[in-house]
Amino acid sequence: PQPSVHSERGRIIASLPTGDSVEVLLYGATVISWKSNGRENFWVSDAAKLDGSKPVRGGVPVVFPCFGPPPQDHATGKLPQHGFARNSTWEYMGENSSESGKGASGGDDSVTLDFGLSSAQLSAEAKQAWPYEFGLVYSVTLRKDGLQTMLNVRNEGKESFEFQMLLHTYFKIPDISKATINGLGSVTYIDKMLNATEHQQTNPSLSINGETDRVYMSIKQDTTSILSEGRSYLDVQRDNLEDSVVWNPWIEKAKGMGDFEPKDGYKKMLCVEVGAVNGWQKLEPGETFEGGQILKAHL
Ligand code: BG6
Repeated sequence: PQPSVHSERGRIIASLPTGDSVEVLLYGATVISWKSNGRENFWVSDAAKLDGSKPVRGGVPVVFPCFGPPPQDHATGKLPQHGFARNSTWEYMGENSSESGKGASGGDDSVTLDFGLSSAQLSAEAKQAWPYEFGLVYSVTLRKDGLQTMLNVRNEGKESFEFQMLLHTYFKIPDISKATINGLGSVTYIDKMLNATEHQQTNPSLSINGETDRVYMSIKQDTTSILSEGRSYLDVQRDNLEDSVVWNPWIEKAKGMGDFEPKDGYKKMLCVEVGAVNGWQKLEPGETFEGGQILKAHL
C-alpha cells in the first residue's frame, strides 16, 4: 500500500498505510492534525476558526515575517502580530511519496506535501505593509517515525529584506501539571511575563505552573523534549533554527481569548515553538533560508 493524499474542505489530508495522518489547512498552511499510533499530537481549540476569518488557535500556525508585535521602526512595523503567513491562503503545490519497498516492517514510507505563498498571493493590505518580493515553500513530511515541517524563504526581489520566522506549534499533552520540558538548561531567555527581562534557565527540567511566555535564545542543544510523568512524550528537533518559545496562557489569558475553548484547555496544551526570532535574518536578492522542525512522538 502507498501513502494516500486527498483534499476536502480547503485542506489536504495525507495518510500512511500505518494509519498515521496529517491534515493541513490551505489557510495559513496550518497543520491542524497529526496522528501517530492513533494519538493526536496537536491541540486545536474547539472554538478555533477554520474558515479563514482568523488565524487558527492551535495546530502549527506559521509565523512570518515578524514574531510578536513588530517594532514600529522596522520594515515589518505595519504588519499585525506574527505577520501575514498564518492568515494568508497558500497554494497547494503537490505531493511526493516515497516507498522503499523493503517489506511490511522495513519500509520507510513517507509523504511530503508542499505549500507555496508568494508576494503575488498576498492581500493588497499585506503587500502594502511589507512590499517585498518573496517566495515561501512550506514542506510537511509525514513519516512512520515522525513529522517534519520546513519553511524555505527566498528573496525574489531586487532589494534585501529582513525577517523572523517561527513554527507556533500547539502540542496536545495529557496534563500540564505532569509535563516537564528538557533541553533548555543553561539557556538564556527573555521572559515576556517579566517585562521582557533576560534570565538563565538554571533548572535543566522546566515545569509550567502559571502563565508562561519565554523566548529561549541561541540554543546549542538541537532537541527540546516534552515529558509526561517523567517519560518522553514528544521531541522537538530544531533544524537550522536556534530559538524556541515556550508558551502557555494559563487561566486568565485563556479566559480572555474568544477562540480558546474549552477554557481549561490550557491544561492539555503546551506551545514549544521553534524559530529564528532573536534579531533578524537578512536575505539578499536571490538568496534563500531554510529552517524547520522534526517532531517525534513517543508512545
Ligand atoms: C506566542 C507569543 O508565540 O504567541 C505570545 O510569545 C502570544 O506572546 C502567543 O501571546 C499567541 O499569540 P496570538 O497572536 O496567536 O494570540
